[in-house]
Amino acid sequence: MSNFQIVTLGRDGPIATLTLNRPDKLNALNEQLLGELATALEDIERDASIRVAVLTGAGDKAFAAGADIEAMSEMTPARAKAFADIGHAIGARIEGGRFPVIAAVNGFALGGGCELALSCDFLYASDRAKFGQPEVNLGAMPGFGGTQRLARRVGVARARELCYTGDMIGADEALRIGLVNAVVPHSELSSRVLELAKKIASKAPLAIAQCKRVILRGADLPLATANELEAQAFAVLFGSHDQREGMKAFLEKRAAKFEGK
Ligand code: COA
Repeated sequence: MSNFQIVTLGRDGPIATLTLNRPDKLNALNEQLLGELATALEDIERDASIRVAVLTGAGDKAFAAGADIEAMSEMTPARAKAFADIGHAIGARIEGGRFPVIAAVNGFALGGGCELALSCDFLYASDRAKFGQPEVNLGAMPGFGGTQRLARRVGVARARELCYTGDMIGADEALRIGLVNAVVPHSELSSRVLELAKKIASKAPLAIAQCKRVILRGADLPLATANELEAQAFAVLFGSHDQREGMKAFLEKRAAKFEGK
């Protein structure tokens, strides 16, 4: 197991919780934090017992208030590119992993924090959460996938407005535009997300991994090609223990026992 200083990795049965843990800096994303997050994601990807991950921020105020402005302030273009590449690699790892990752957005999700949350399968927000891409206030722009994932999630026009104005929006507006799946009272966020994570973890893991992969990859493909990808993935599952078990259990009127194989 790796040692982390500013990312906390907790486990509760099949659920891993990754917590960005720099609350005094509103969990701003620096190279160390991103490096630890990448390693933690690798650790849980290798652990077959993990079926769902939750990503959240420490403290009461922030999920992450963006990339670390102090660290970025003196970056050269080459260093900035390397920094953006780290952010993109984490986004790709979250999106491309075998299990769902739920962002539990407990406060500010700005800039790189919003982008990190957007890499997750979906977001649940505290009623205190605030979202935005304020980079234009700093002479910069989203660099961890914001221009692309935000536009794909909420539509091009709304993404443009958020990126061009740098405005923050509250949780209700984020729900209205489809940025988050649900808004829950702040004090209930972790329990509600855990409940949801447990429900997903009780389903067939290989089937969920295939849904995740096909939804992600299919989005970039013409519909007929994407549907072919789906048909192939559907067929693959019929070679799994869990498909036989799931259907047998239904016919025998009992709960299925999924093993992820
Ligand atoms: N990078 C580095 N440090 C940050 C940070 C960031 N993105 N966001 C917040 N912090 C630090 C602050 O500098 C402050 O540190 P200090 O106590 O050592 O001075 C600490 O976190 C608390 O932030 P503060 O600004 O005092 O809290 P606030 O409640 O008054 O305001 C925000 C909260 C989110 C509105 C404000 O912190 C903010 O605008 N942050 C930057 C958001 C941003 O532009 N993100 C995109 C970066 S590309």
